[in-house]
Amino acid sequence: MMMVSALDTAKRGLSRASIDRLVAAALLLAPAAAVGQDISVPRLDPKAPIVLIGHRGASGYRPEHTLASYDLAIDQGVDFIEPDLVLTKDKVFVARHENDITGTTDVASHPEFAARKTTKVIDGETHTGWFTEDFTLAELKTLRAKERLPSLRPASAKYDGQFTIPTLDEVIALAKRRTKETHRTIGIYPETKHPSYFASIGLPMDEALVAQLKKAGWSKPTDPVFIQSFEVNNLKHIHSLTGIRLIQLMGAEGGPADKAAPSYAAMATPAGLKQIARYAYGIGPGLDMIQNGDAPPSVLVRDAHAAGLRLHPWTFRAENVFLIPSFRAGAAPAAHGRLSDEIQLYLRLGIDGFFTDFPDIGAAARAAAQK
Ligand code: G3P
Ligand code: CA
Repeated sequence: MMMVSALDTAKRGLSRASIDRLVAAALLLAPAAAVGQDISVPRLDPKAPIVLIGHRGASGYRPEHTLASYDLAIDQGVDFIEPDLVLTKDKVFVARHENDITGTTDVASHPEFAARKTTKVIDGETHTGWFTEDFTLAELKTLRAKERLPSLRPASAKYDGQFTIPTLDEVIALAKRRTKETHRTIGIYPETKHPSYFASIGLPMDEALVAQLKKAGWSKPTDPVFIQSFEVNNLKHIHSLTGIRLIQLMGAEGGPADKAAPSYAAMATPAGLKQIARYAYGIGPGLDMIQNGDAPPSVLVRDAHAAGLRLHPWTFRAENVFLIPSFRAGAAPAAHGRLSDEIQLYLRLGIDGFFTDFPDIGAAARAAAQK
């Protein structure tokens, strides 16, 4: 579980020293056993393409959620780019992993915004920093993105200060322009972040997102869009508003912030999956819900497929600290291990698509698996 803790901590943008300590602990405590049972399971639609999703773009190589990151992901072969979505004070969707922009922008070095620093409780957790909902889009556009994990990704951190925060409109325009240029269909895979919280402060997301996607020409299951959420009720609501395919996200621990189910564990049972299949096309489970370290794989792929749900798990990352022990190379936390082999293991376990920070490795793994 230390790997999961390090990952979660990194996501929350704690200090470099804190991340480094957790990364070191994870590597010390992780078992070095051989990988567990390796079985081949068919995908739900074996003839359909495996869906390759650039997680926050190509975030292993560029600061996440920037047009440069999405553009590189497209260059590296993804089918979909993934914007996590939050709202500004003037109700514009922008791409950030969380509304707290302290860890992924240079906002702290802008004296004109110093007084905006505040403390909020979001989904039951206390956060101190700067928040998108307290800024207009024009104000946010004066900030520049920075790498979330500079100690793990120093090459990406060299791009700090170069890129702005993109709007959803800009992400859509990029996908459409690159679709024309590449003669491939480049889709978008937006995630609503903290939808209940945003609704509680007068910034509801569901109708606005559906309307914006409709304006872009996307409202049907065949359109190149998936909408994802860790919450349940907003996905059910969105299901009533559009035909776009929906993905129910879940993690190994905890449950949805809207309390629509007691836990993700309950949602991942055959009965829970049957309920999800009423409104969603598939699930996006954490990788460890399918294979936790070197333990034998779970039955989640089998049970989800039995309910008619595809699986698009998250998130494949190349650094040792994020890999299953058997796929690590050496002991340095930031060194890259055998990510392609790890992805191919999960593909043999029957996943139907996947999120990765390293789309070039993901594309190569997909190609190898399809030989
Ligand atoms: O949306 C799939 C994956 O991105 C979920 O995790 O926290 O990286 O948005 P997160
Ligand atoms: Ca996401």
